[in-house]
Amino acid sequence: MATHQKLLRQSQKLALTYPWVSKPFIVSAPMKIFSGAELAVAVSSHGGLGFIGPTAKPSDLENILENARGLLPSTLSDKNQLPIGVGFQTWDADLDIAVAAIEKFQPCAAWLFAPRNGQEEFNDWIRRIRSVSSPTQIWIQVGTLREAIATVQAPKDVRPDVLVIQGTDAGGHGRADDGLGLTTLLPEISDALGFDSELPLIAAGGIADGRGVASALGLGAVGVAMGTRFLASSEANIKAGYQNEIIRASDGAHSTVRTTLYNELRGTIGWPEGYNPRTIINQSWIEHKAGVDFRTLQQRHDEATKQGDQAWGPDGRLATYAGTCIGLIHEVKSASAILEDSRQQAIDIMKSMAKLYS
Ligand SMILES: Cc1cc2nc3c(=O)[nH]c(=O)nc-3n(C[C@H](O)[C@H](O)[C@H](O)COP(=O)(O)O)c2cc1C
Repeated sequence: MATHQKLLRQSQKLALTYPWVSKPFIVSAPMKIFSGAELAVAVSSHGGLGFIGPTAKPSDLENILENARGLLPSTLSDKNQLPIGVGFQTWDADLDIAVAAIEKFQPCAAWLFAPRNGQEEFNDWIRRIRSVSSPTQIWIQVGTLREAIATVQAPKDVRPDVLVIQGTDAGGHGRADDGLGLTTLLPEISDALGFDSELPLIAAGGIADGRGVASALGLGAVGVAMGTRFLASSEANIKAGYQNEIIRASDGAHSTVRTTLYNELRGTIGWPEGYNPRTIINQSWIEHKAGVDFRTLQQRHDEATKQGDQAWGPDGRLATYAGTCIGLIHEVKSASAILEDSRQQAIDIMKSMAKLYS
């Protein structure tokens, strides 16, 4: 009963803040360039909350937000607030540029992840964002109990409005060595925050359909963020070769790995300690494990970048960041179909559980 009341309070808070979002609350996660204006707007226009990912260059953000504003249906065009969120990896983002764009467009959420200097870095970001945009709620993505506690023990003016709990199944970057699955991580964080906590928890990592949504709600989340599932959406900004891999691959235990190898091959350096990305395995990883030296791997990788869509796949070599849920994704669907199918399946599951166990 106590848990029920807590979830109800948190859900009501989300519903008041994001009135266009249907239940269960589903978010498309910020994913670098893959989640651009088209995907974020499609998600927010169909009863979800769409996030734009960190852009290739910080200065691209304004144009992308402008584009998003232009794509919004009139029903969602509230001049005081943009009904989409923006994601930042604070370690390599530009705070001044981010704050200028947030001030101009007033997005409904800023999702912060991966600071180089821990909570202190988030504090700077949060104070600056709040000083220019009152509608912009602060979402922080964490991957451990320790990080979650640091956010709620921070000074009151820099506590987040929403906490995203990222389990180790997630695609893209996450905790390298101390990651846990959502089944333990989420309820432990929920318990630690206590019954009085007003902080809504959003589950991320391994959720690709309504079954994942229903189970995350059972664990104490009031919503979910899906990343990998939306890579296989018609609105994702992704090459066909990469997207085909999301559809083709299965058995995430054997077909994905957490490694910084692909970052190194791509020249994406400088990530803070303790993070690495999950990716689908291909020839670069297989040959690395077989002992091929890095320089040779890099030459082969760079050659492969000229091969178009052939550069991904079992014989390919390029980074294919994705989560363990790839085995649950069998086709490219529109963002609206992903949302509608997931919501309906989750509701059906919860209704039949209620019948089964009442
Ligand atoms: C290709 C890819 C890129 C990502 N890029 C980011 C990012 O730029 N910032 C961020 O906070 N999270 C990023 N993530 C992680 C997501 O926010 C989210 O935690 C994750 O996708 C959830 O797990 P799932 O992929 O199993 O749904 C990325 C995930 C993927 C798959």
